[in-house]
Amino acid sequence: MDVFSDKASIRDYVLGRKRQGERAGCVLTMGFLHDGHMGLVAEAAKRTDFVCTSIFVNPTQFGEAADLAGYPTDIEGDLAKFEAAGVSAVFLPTPEIMYPGGPDTIVDVPSLSGILQGKVRPGHFQGVSTVVTKLFNILQPDVTVFGEKDYQQLALIRRMVADLDMPIRVVGLPIVREADGLAMSSRNVRLTPEDRAAAVVLSQSLDRAEAHEGDPLTVEEFRALVRETISREPRADIRAIDIRDAATLAPCYGRLAKPAVILLSVRFGDVLLIDNRVIGPGKEAL
Ligand code: PAF
Repeated sequence: MDVFSDKASIRDYVLGRKRQGERAGCVLTMGFLHDGHMGLVAEAAKRTDFVCTSIFVNPTQFGEAADLAGYPTDIEGDLAKFEAAGVSAVFLPTPEIMYPGGPDTIVDVPSLSGILQGKVRPGHFQGVSTVVTKLFNILQPDVTVFGEKDYQQLALIRRMVADLDMPIRVVGLPIVREADGLAMSSRNVRLTPEDRAAAVVLSQSLDRAEAHEGDPLTVEEFRALVRETISREPRADIRAIDIRDAATLAPCYGRLAKPAVILLSVRFGDVLLIDNRVIGPGKEAL
């Protein structure tokens, strides 16, 4: 496995292999890898001839300096995991390499960057869409795989790729969960043992909503059901429970006529966890 820190070298590497007729996959990460990331790599490998990954904790998508400083890293462990998974090359740049003149140009998908998580984290999604565009330009993938856990991020990347005519197939991979149902996340290690145990209530609330998806409930009734389940756990501090059109993230009302996504944003101690589930008629066709 090759590790590159400069843009030109990894782009030359990828283009060299593409000239031989190989299809390139890419998986973008901020490191501190868990099984969820490795699932993305496995999926990219299934669909392409070789996979490149990136490890870059992108400063422009963090609002608070403390969040950025506290972001966990384990470069040696990450490289060992990528190597074991058969990754061909890893791009491991510094912020100076990524933003030599400082960040200036911005890629934005305003209909998706300013809603939901984008309202509580101003600038976050502009940071994501800009760095993802840059990484796509550097890594030149034919196929890229993102987790459905970051549902809004995936919707935004799909829209950006379509709107900007990027010749890249974006694949979404279902959430990978721990045995008790907690969605895997690099943030989980920051939970206290008590909060870790309590956080299982997120997937339980989604399971409960899904169990009722065939019932004639309104969006408001689904929201109340989810809120009531999470509220049983005193350690859970609910920040948002949104139910949106699963394809466009537009608000939806009344009884479910098409797939809707339930988006949870809940704090345990000082750790904000997110989770989601698509429910409703026609969800299999999404
Ligand atoms: O999902 C992430 O880890 C990041 O938002 C991404 C896509 C690597 C961009 O920095």
